[in-house]
Amino acid sequence: MTISIRPASLDDISAILEIENKTNQMPWTEAQFISSMEVGHYSVVLQEEDNILGFAIYSPIIPESHLLNIAIHPNHQGRGLGDKLLQKIIFQNKTMGVKVISLEVRVSNLPAIALYEKRGFFKDAIRPNYYSGSPKEDALLMSLKI
Ligand SMILES: CC(C)(COP(=O)(O)OP(=O)(O)OC[C@H]1O[C@@H](n2cnc3c(N)ncnc32)[C@H](O)[C@@H]1OP(=O)(O)O)[C@@H](O)C(=O)NCCC(=O)NCCS
Repeated sequence: MTISIRPASLDDISAILEIENKTNQMPWTEAQFISSMEVGHYSVVLQEEDNILGFAIYSPIIPESHLLNIAIHPNHQGRGLGDKLLQKIIFQNKTMGVKVISLEVRVSNLPAIALYEKRGFFKDAIRPNYYSGSPKEDALLMSLKI
């Protein structure tokens, strides 16, 4: 099976939304994905044959870039796809002159934290009560120098 990673388009939003709704406790809405594309965030999808299995969104403001969202469909997690997608994003950012990629992640999200650490991200700080909901949850701020 061939895996490819390509820029996302508005046509991909329904597949992206399906993955988002299955993986994020506070999912972005369709309107948020559309506006993210319209304001110029970089969106990429990972697909196997014709099936979209993951996506990522980042916002480069060179020399920095912010990873806003990354997810793999639950049925396809643990296959190395998230790592493939993250490595691609790191490569793309490096190519465009980014020096630091930063992100926030829920302190309870151990799979994502392990993925980021595997690719060299450092834990920088905790932002208390960053995520709304009840209870609120702290964010771990992480960054990678590239
Ligand atoms: C985080 C996420 C993108 C990882 O994608 P994935 O395809 O399942 O991960 P991979 O199979 O590529 O694994 C890569 C590394 O991630 C870490 N990892 C992945 N799943 C893990 C788990 N269940 N427990 C611990 N570490 C895990 C490991 O470091 C792994 O490396 P290893 O296989 O050498 O141990 C995926 O779990 C996901 O979509 N989660 C929901 C959305 C989310 O939380 N996004 C991050 C928001 S900040």
